[in-house]
Amino acid sequence: MFAPRPDIRPATVEVFVEGRPVLVPEGASAAAAVLLAGLPAIRETPVGGAPRLPYCMMGICFDCLAEIDGVANRQACMVTVEPGMRIAAQRGARQARPGTAPEVAA
Ligand code: FES
Repeated sequence: MFAPRPDIRPATVEVFVEGRPVLVPEGASAAAAVLLAGLPAIRETPVGGAPRLPYCMMGICFDCLAEIDGVANRQACMVTVEPGMRIAAQRGARQARPGTAPEVAA
């Protein structure tokens, strides 16, 4: 149906998925990088530990939650890759960073 022109190669960006270098087309999402890396999962569900990979690629399912450049709970499908970006798997629930959780009145 649609095929890329063989004489035009898109620019690529090098990112690191679980420490492995992956070349991704410029403008792609971090979730695309995860899929190109061929990982079995990028996160595990907090309760059952079930493995998950990006699914909807449009911000609906949250199966792409990952740690990106040290920040947990980011929807990888909503983040555009940048050179040197580090994408890491997220296992279980993440804690709020100290000082960022809202105070709860007693
Ligand atoms: S892949 Fe579904 S929210 Fe990111």
